[in-house]
Amino acid sequence: MTDSPPPASPLVDLPPEAFRALGREAVDVMTAFFEGIDSAAPFPARSPESVHALFDAPVPEVGEDAHAILADWNTKILPNSSVLGHPKWFGFVNGSGSQIGAIADALASTLNPNLGGWKAAPAATEIERRTVSWLSELIGYGKESSGLFLSGGTMANMAALRTALCDAATWDVTADGLQGSGSSRHLTVYMADHETHVSLPAAVDFLGLGRNSIRKVPSLPDFTMDVAALDRMLEEDTAAGMTPFCIVGHGGSINVGAIDNFAAIADVAARRNIWFHVDGACGALGAMLPELVHRYDGMARADSVSFDAHKWLGVPYEAACLLVRDPLALPKAFATTATYLQSSLPSEYTGLNYFDYGPQLSRGWRALKVWMSLRFYGAEGYRAIFRQTIACAKHLHREVARSDDFEVVQPEPELYIYAFRYAPVALRGDDAALDTLNQRIADELLRRKVAFVMTTRIRGRVTQRLSICSHRTTLRDIDETLAAMREVGEELSRES
Ligand SMILES: Cc1ncc(COP(=O)(O)O)c(C=O)c1O
Repeated sequence: MTDSPPPASPLVDLPPEAFRALGREAVDVMTAFFEGIDSAAPFPARSPESVHALFDAPVPEVGEDAHAILADWNTKILPNSSVLGHPKWFGFVNGSGSQIGAIADALASTLNPNLGGWKAAPAATEIERRTVSWLSELIGYGKESSGLFLSGGTMANMAALRTALCDAATWDVTADGLQGSGSSRHLTVYMADHETHVSLPAAVDFLGLGRNSIRKVPSLPDFTMDVAALDRMLEEDTAAGMTPFCIVGHGGSINVGAIDNFAAIADVAARRNIWFHVDGACGALGAMLPELVHRYDGMARADSVSFDAHKWLGVPYEAACLLVRDPLALPKAFATTATYLQSSLPSEYTGLNYFDYGPQLSRGWRALKVWMSLRFYGAEGYRAIFRQTIACAKHLHREVARSDDFEVVQPEPELYIYAFRYAPVALRGDDAALDTLNQRIADELLRRKVAFVMTTRIRGRVTQRLSICSHRTTLRDIDETLAAMREVGEELSRES
């Protein structure tokens, strides 16, 4: 009996002409998106249930026509999507995305290298190495450092804390975890009480350190870490038998964009031989600006610095960068040993294997979109974008300060993040009412599809908080958003 031939597989590539036609259609869709981005609704204002219902389809048993799949973009996907690249998207700390980055992502997927091992990605690995080194140079962190791209600031903070831990421990953390002989069980990490980003406690959770290992350092009135208090805490904790292993400073904090006093923290860290990590997810790149670089004094002395390319650089998600001053520190924390990865013996094709430098084995080609974006805009182009966003934040501050119905809650912004409060005279002093009113204003702006704004709490009180991260945002967008807030605020105040 002879085996019958297997049925013809539909899993074949499209003929070149069909692929080209599909690609052109996709590029048309992308072009229309970018063309209409200013007039799109920043937020779809649809309920989670209604969006869920739209995609509630059975598993496709039979393959569909690619053009029909693409057609869903305009009918189902776009009308139910948030547009982070909209000039009035001020939520979270989201980057605006870039056209060159979108093209880079398509090209990255086309070659589909795996940036874990050099042999699976020779050119791609060298592009990552070069891009990381460009970024390091641009922020004055020095060419000797090493680093890599990770999914985001959260993973970068996690990787930095593990690196710090492996560096500080007197035992082999890789072998004995947190329980090696010499472990005092009192490993402690220091971060500011007000502005520390939630990704840092998450990193502590992830590493199994326990939240009690976090020592919250008081903040100064300008929301930076009180370094004198830090020093006192370190003194007391060390005397009490604890093992401080890391201090985290912020380069552009989440609520108010504060930049810590890096030089002072670096002094303390050096004197006490403790790892100093700068979480610069939002703003480490501000060191690229000559007029601001003095605010980053001491950052070059940090043991590690992380920042998100998918924020201020506008590179499409996901891309964060972690830089570490000691090139041996990352492999100490992450090196793998499997012979099937390393090859059993070195050869002339043994190159840089990024799986030895971070938590991922398989890795996508994040570097391509950063590399292409840096080449496309150039450092000067990015400086111009940064200046524009900072100018927007400063303008907002001035408008808030000179108004009698908004209230200043932070110093003049140095970066692009700014918090403030709607506080009409009649309600001043009634914090509970102002909290509710400010939240309702933000919600109403979303509902009206005017702008995407979110609130936060500053020293316990609900405030508006705008992250003006987009290269598309102009002073006019700021004025229109503030005017809309005022209009809604007045309406809601009259109602209550
Ligand atoms: C200061 C800070 N650190 C870390 C993160 C986490 O970054 P990601 O969202 O890329 O994981 C953020 C995100 O906004 C942040 O603002």
